[in-house]
Amino acid sequence: MNNDIERTLYSVEDIKEAAHRLGQQLTEDYQDKRPILISVLKGAILWTVDVMREMDIMAEVDFIDVSSYHGGVASAGEIQLVHDLSADVAGRNVIIMEDIIDTGRTLQFLIDLLKQRQAKDIKVCTLLDKPEGRVVAAKADYVGFKLPKEFVVGYGLDYKEFYRNLPYVGVLKPSVYEGDRPE
Ligand code: XMP
Ligand code: MG
Repeated sequence: MNNDIERTLYSVEDIKEAAHRLGQQLTEDYQDKRPILISVLKGAILWTVDVMREMDIMAEVDFIDVSSYHGGVASAGEIQLVHDLSADVAGRNVIIMEDIIDTGRTLQFLIDLLKQRQAKDIKVCTLLDKPEGRVVAAKADYVGFKLPKEFVVGYGLDYKEFYRNLPYVGVLKPSVYEGDRPE
């Protein structure tokens, strides 16, 4: 698996530092607010557990699965709710935990859904932000790293469901895509 990676963008250490930094920030910002972290499956699982371990406050965690990419590298543009939350978010302080924000469509879909369900406050904590990819105006409040327009895998992020278990974020060798190259 490591042989398929052309170069590392964010190392294990880089990610650990980002999780620590944002976990501390969230600890300060959410004292006595008892937030619910909403982890967006499957990409945000590693990021969620690493950040929540750095938060020294009372916090819940829940999971939601939405899909926009259908196994490849190009966005389908349409968002589907694949697995819903178990918690009721009405009146709650919610923190959406994302792996990456690209066009912003997934995030906008989630924000609309949580607003409709009357969440009190909605903030976003993402490992990666690709601002150049934005099609809708959705914004993240807590960002690990700003990323140039590049397709990345590892630390939760996949190519055709693989590479999520790499402990770092990297760029795949072009040969792996076999003609199915990302933008
Ligand atoms: P949008 O475009 O809705 O995209 O902001 C968010 C979702 O798209 C996926 N995505 C990626 N997945 N490497 C990936 O493995 C990438 O570089 C990448 N860019 C976007 C991801 O699932 C994210 O939640
Ligand atoms: Mg995702």
